[in-house]
Amino acid sequence: MVCLGNICRSPIAEGIVKRKLQSAGFDAIVDSAGLLSYHSGEQPDHRAMETAARFGIDISYQRARQITRTDFENFDLILAMDSSVYSELKSFRQSSGIRKIHLFLEYAGYPAGSDVPDPYYGTMRHFEECFKLIESASVALVTRILSEAGVNE
Ligand code: 4NP
Repeated sequence: MVCLGNICRSPIAEGIVKRKLQSAGFDAIVDSAGLLSYHSGEQPDHRAMETAARFGIDISYQRARQITRTDFENFDLILAMDSSVYSELKSFRQSSGIRKIHLFLEYAGYPAGSDVPDPYYGTMRHFEECFKLIESASVALVTRILSEAGVNE
């Protein structure tokens, strides 16, 4: 799960998708990272932690990090939270890893080019909308991941 700062959207996505895959009994490494190093080492934004906690998901253990080239080798699927992150990721990796990179909402069946809006400059309401959007999309996302991994639900 990749966004810009790795303190708002992608930590929420990591928390939700990890929980759903665990509940499905699927053993996967779910992680998140940001394009920027600005917040590296920090906990998620307190508004993201509070919102996730309110919906029963603990993301306080997470620490922000910048995406690295080895991530493109180590992970099977790299999901960008918005189109600008997606374009940036594709320009990082011109060769074999490119097929692993998808737009998060598009991969979950939303219309092409759908973005998870960045709540960073917004209010708690924007964080709640962000959480709910990621949560809704994650249902289809996890179904697709399990299906592509050959797991019968
Ligand atoms: P995120 O939100 O990409 O969802 O983690 C942001 C967090 C920090 C910044 C931008 C977006 N920033 O510019 O510091």
